[in-house]
Amino acid sequence: MDLIGKVAILTGVSKGIGLATAEALLAHGAIVAGWGRTAPKHLNHERFHFFKCDVRKEASVIKAYADTREKLGDEVHVLVNNAGLGVAGPVDGFDSEDWHLMFDTNVHGMFYCTKAVLPQMREQQLGHIINISSIAGQQGIEKMAGYCATKFAVKGFSQSLFKEVRNDGIKVTCLYPGSVQTNFFDEIPGTEANASMMQPEDIAATIVHAIETPFNFHIVDIEMRPLQPKK
Ligand SMILES: NC(=O)c1ccc[n+]([C@@H]2O[C@H](COP(=O)([O-])OP(=O)(O)OC[C@H]3O[C@@H](n4cnc5c(N)ncnc54)[C@H](OP(=O)(O)O)[C@@H]3O)[C@@H](O)[C@H]2O)c1
Repeated sequence: MDLIGKVAILTGVSKGIGLATAEALLAHGAIVAGWGRTAPKHLNHERFHFFKCDVRKEASVIKAYADTREKLGDEVHVLVNNAGLGVAGPVDGFDSEDWHLMFDTNVHGMFYCTKAVLPQMREQQLGHIINISSIAGQQGIEKMAGYCATKFAVKGFSQSLFKEVRNDGIKVTCLYPGSVQTNFFDEIPGTEANASMMQPEDIAATIVHAIETPFNFHIVDIEMRPLQPKK
């Protein structure tokens, strides 16, 4: 899909992969509706519009979608479900609130946003939904059971939805990144973000590439890792 003039909704735009993806989508000509709790501090672009949204709450997602349509019109061609977080720790003693926080954000938020945009994408018979899972959605990781469970859910949702909507001209692509140098690791004891990790801009470029493929060419799953993570 050619991104020029297309409306792309992107969740979690304040920093990290979301911010880099907003910049990449803008550079390729999209009109970006950034949904999040926090606006990016230094992103001033005539085609960037921030809409307040806590993806954990369906009412907040519905409001952000209504506000987006009011400002940018009905058409929406891209949704990037990026907002997410991880809390680490052994299962025994794991705080149930943290468990719910991860599922509410990483899984339920993705569902609410997807559910909101699908009718319009079906009407257009064109759209692309990008979900950010993780390597943690491909394999279990010690002391990350809850986070892995949410990212396996993202994978299952994405692969099922792809089969559900492909005949409506809608693509669903799921990304499985290994470590990316972002603030994600601020809350993960024992791992510090570092320059040997992948860069958010590289993830963003891959997202743009997946979106810009020809109509009848669909990239379903993308696993990505740093080549030399320990260097
Ligand atoms: N970094 C990695 O190594 C890595 C690897 C694989 C997958 N991922 C996934 O990539 C995605 C982005 O992570 P990141 O590395 O860029 O982390 P990050 O720098 O911590 O950014 C996370 C973004 O999500 C937003 N967010 C969190 N909860 C939200 C909510 N309830 N409503 C709206 N926005 C919310 C944050 O907004 P606030 O500023 O308001 O908190 C922030 O903009 C996540 O889904 C993460 O699981 C990351």
